[in-house]
Amino acid sequence: MSFARVIGTGGYLPEKVLTSAELEKMVDTTEQWIISRTGVRERRIAADHERTSDLAERASRAALDEAGISPQELDLIIVATTTPDHVFPSVACLLQDRLGIHNGGPAFDIQAVCTGFVYALDVVNRFFLTGASKKALVVGAETFSRIIDWTDRNTCILFGDGAGAVVLEAADEPGIVSTHLHADGKYHELLSVPMGVSANYEQVLKGEAYTQMRGSEVFKWAVKALGDIVDETLLANSLEKSDIDWLIPHQANIRIINATAKKLDMNMNRVIVTVDRHGNTSAASIPLAFNEAVRDGRIQRGQKVIMEGFGGGFTWGSILLVY
Ligand code: COA
Repeated sequence: MSFARVIGTGGYLPEKVLTSAELEKMVDTTEQWIISRTGVRERRIAADHERTSDLAERASRAALDEAGISPQELDLIIVATTTPDHVFPSVACLLQDRLGIHNGGPAFDIQAVCTGFVYALDVVNRFFLTGASKKALVVGAETFSRIIDWTDRNTCILFGDGAGAVVLEAADEPGIVSTHLHADGKYHELLSVPMGVSANYEQVLKGEAYTQMRGSEVFKWAVKALGDIVDETLLANSLEKSDIDWLIPHQANIRIINATAKKLDMNMNRVIVTVDRHGNTSAASIPLAFNEAVRDGRIQRGQKVIMEGFGGGFTWGSILLVY
């Protein structure tokens, strides 16, 4: 049996910074309201010419450099995204081509909104456990700004664009230790873009495919789900809260992150936070935060990390890994 072990991480943020102060000029809000209710000071917005695949490629190349392997060695590519370049082909196939990989290995996208990266790591882990993959690239990449109504103050203050990537290799030592995925479609209306190819397509054609959200209901659900999923992860592995070195929560709102950390008695200096500078980058938020904390030396080899995500669907889940 092989573990999926992270051997490289990478991240990419578009150059354009949109501060919460600038949003005051766009919608009826204040910088102070945004920072106090969400913790978001600024977020990055992709340039008009930048697509999700461009962000994914930049993050992937950084992760491959760090891993010290050639793209040709990859036998699996999974991209988690809700904002793909096209209906099809997948971003993963576009990325495979950009990286010059023509070895016939599988490449596909996963759509679980903000839990997408966690879902992707679960899937890649199963490939490793069965021996079907030995070196894989997993990316979370979003141009979420494209599905935001920039006149809606309820949503536009929260989200940003970016991409994060990890390269994993089969190893005898852990690795991904356990994965925990959940969904409950009963709540699909609380957070959605309720239009697409086979529903309300005329709104897509008019460029009105926007995120809709019942914020305070999503908030309550997220706090509960993110707290419960860590308890589930600890129980499944017979671990205590104090055994965990780092928590990497989905970066939706600093108040959700604080509430989860409090529930777990986790000091905030063991929680990786990027929401202040990135906003909510959906599937990219966890790998971007992971990359930042690995590169600045906070997360060290051998340490136990829990990643946890929550998103539209609802979907939620966690990963326990030893870095
Ligand atoms: N600026 C100023 N006022 C705003 C505002 C803004 N950007 N957005 C909403 N408001 C107003 C509301 O209209 C409401 O006014 P009212 O009381 O006159 O009706 C008031 O602020 C309170 O709204 P409420 O929705 O209760 O605020 P909140 O404390 O729940 O904060 C969110 C709103 C969106 C920041 C918060 O609910 C949240 O973060 N939810 C989770 C969203 C999320 O993470 N989604 C992605 C999950 S992956």
